[in-house]
Amino acid sequence: MTTIAWRTSRRKNFTRTSASIPRRLVREGKWYLLPAYALARTSDLAREGMENSGSFRFADHIYRAKPGGRYGIGWLLDALFLALPASRSMRERHLHSRLHIATALRRGDVQGESVRVLSVPCGIARDLVGGANDAGLGTPWPVAHARLIGMDLDPEALALSRSLAGRDGTFEFIEGDALDASSYPRELDLVVSTGFGEFLDDDDLTRFYAACLSALKPGGRFVTSGMSRSKLADRLLRELAELHTRYRDAEALRAALGKAGFTDIVVHSDRYGLQSLATAVRPAGTP
Ligand SMILES: C[S@@+](CC[C@H](N)C(=O)[O-])C[C@H]1O[C@@H](n2cnc3c(N)ncnc32)[C@H](O)[C@@H]1O
Repeated sequence: MTTIAWRTSRRKNFTRTSASIPRRLVREGKWYLLPAYALARTSDLAREGMENSGSFRFADHIYRAKPGGRYGIGWLLDALFLALPASRSMRERHLHSRLHIATALRRGDVQGESVRVLSVPCGIARDLVGGANDAGLGTPWPVAHARLIGMDLDPEALALSRSLAGRDGTFEFIEGDALDASSYPRELDLVVSTGFGEFLDDDDLTRFYAACLSALKPGGRFVTSGMSRSKLADRLLRELAELHTRYRDAEALRAALGKAGFTDIVVHSDRYGLQSLATAVRPAGTP
């Protein structure tokens, strides 16, 4: 029991507090949102968002971009939600991580050097598996030189990641707390993180970034993102799913990375203007 309480206290992405969202809407006099709530529940994406706000399944559904839902209308609504700029923009952060993973793996392959990559928290580690596939396109996959590690607090996410990765010995999935620097594997070349910082306050974000920094080799790279507010998506997520996101623009992200000790910070906006996509480097000589 202690373990469950310990885990629950460190889960940073479940922001829903009401036992029943419809009851809360009525209590707050927002009964006019009830039909929207009932309709939205036919979409797989919206239902997952409402039942488990901020879950790895919610993020993965957006990255996979395959609509699913009940009674036809649910499928259509799901396709509509997936086409919103906010969803397309979340996919951009996933592609940003994948691109850096593939680039690091290709570079390691060309230089004949081993490459150690961590995705934290990995959720369903589609970034690692996708990045590995992207790097291996057209050539035999350079298994011998790569170690792709996913870390998450949730054993279910780790089991789903293992089955996505298949029997490939290149991958390793470990249970660990992203806010505890001692949980991390060391001597990493690349750390990627999406969908976590958005649930952390500024102090925890600095702690998290500092843990990522200390797990990297000097010269190692950190790849992450921050989200800006999309009015429509924010309203839907707040009212219907109680998903409360910490929005941070490029400047805020740059400041947080700098505070944790990173240098060579580059932040650019995705094409929808909703995600800030960042890379940063662990300088030589950091303790
Ligand atoms: C929204 S998902 C994002 C996962 C993935 N990076 C992505 O972009 O899909 C957030 C993940 O954070 C994990 N998580 C929450 N708090 C954590 C913590 N303190 N340490 C490790 N994992 C945590 C959850 O189990 C979940 O898998």
